[in-house]
Amino acid sequence: MYSHLFTELEVGGVKLKNRLTMAPLYLGYAGEDGIVSELILDHYRLMAQSGVALVVVENATVDYPVGRNSNHCLRVDGDDQIEALSRLATAIKQEGAVACLQINHGGRYAVPPGFVAPSAVETFGRMPRALIIQEIEPIIDQYAQAALRVKQAGFDMVELHGGTGYLLAQFVSPRTNKRTDIYGGSPEARRKFPLDVVAAVKAVVGEFPVGYRFLADEWLPDGLQLAESRVFARSLDAAGVAYISVMGGTYESFFLPEMVAKSKQEGYMVDLAAAIKQEVSGPVITAGRIAHGPLAEQIVASGQADLIGLARVLWADPEWPQKVQVGKEDEIHHCNPECDVCLQMIMKGRPALCASWPKEKMQLWKSKLQK
Ligand SMILES: Cc1cc2nc3c(=O)[nH]c(=O)nc-3n(C[C@H](O)[C@H](O)[C@H](O)COP(=O)(O)O)c2cc1C
Repeated sequence: MYSHLFTELEVGGVKLKNRLTMAPLYLGYAGEDGIVSELILDHYRLMAQSGVALVVVENATVDYPVGRNSNHCLRVDGDDQIEALSRLATAIKQEGAVACLQINHGGRYAVPPGFVAPSAVETFGRMPRALIIQEIEPIIDQYAQAALRVKQAGFDMVELHGGTGYLLAQFVSPRTNKRTDIYGGSPEARRKFPLDVVAAVKAVVGEFPVGYRFLADEWLPDGLQLAESRVFARSLDAAGVAYISVMGGTYESFFLPEMVAKSKQEGYMVDLAAAIKQEVSGPVITAGRIAHGPLAEQIVASGQADLIGLARVLWADPEWPQKVQVGKEDEIHHCNPECDVCLQMIMKGRPALCASWPKEKMQLWKSKLQK
């Protein structure tokens, strides 16, 4: 029935069994200080069992404590984390999915004591400290060393988090990068930091696929716009990234009323992915409420994107891929666009539960959270 969705694709030399991927989704399941907990292992086992070809694990910080987004953010900043991370990679691979870990520095969106940024531009009433130029190369090296740890831990790929307005995106954006040195000013100079990161990562990991979560549009009048992003995507493609996973918005646009309304719509970021797809030779992933099989199939069939990213869609119902494949779509438990229970729980620093889960599953996960 779905002749495109359930076909193989090679990405960075790694075979994906179909076009479905889990998009990174932070749910607060790691322990305090980013410990790889039994809960997070159970969660990713379930996500990998779902039948998606690729599981991209939520963001892990390259710089602790300065780069982390929360106390429960995974860590990849030290060699002593490799062993625990390898349990995560193994849990995913044993269930037949390709395992990828996303690495990140929160920059101006990090939690205290972190609060560095390309420039001192206020965010939510706080003023970050602008990085001095001597601090930038060590951060590039932190990304490279973190990526090497991802490889050493047995993951199949690493993803650089250039979305959501975190540090890589902060350098690209004209809104958050007001620097006048080699890392700011012209659009080319704003792109230098992420391109240096990609080059440093690739130099260290060698033959190992490096994907990129890509901010195509900040959805803010003075923010990064698609015209510039198209050029950046071409540079990333030329730099040899294995795929580009497209998204829109940052924390400063997500909660604007028009963006809240937009993000309730099915496939609300497909247009961005389709625009980037026109610019690059490598595969493109699109996510954002791709809740039904026919839409997912049409995206791949029409060439708007090569791969589908499922985040809350898959978490709400890990049987989504199987139900779509065997024509049981009417049995899918859908993420309700009007519900923000998971976000509320995360913002309170609690691990998230999904209000769409059936009663027995809810009870099971509540008991897991109490352990
Ligand atoms: C609670 C929550 C946590 C997220 N965590 C991450 C993350 O760690 N890294 C990332 O690149 N995107 C993250 N995202 C964005 C998702 O990958 C995805 O692009 C978005 O949720 C749209 O897909 P969906 O409608 O299937 O959820 C997160 C989104 C939500 C709602």
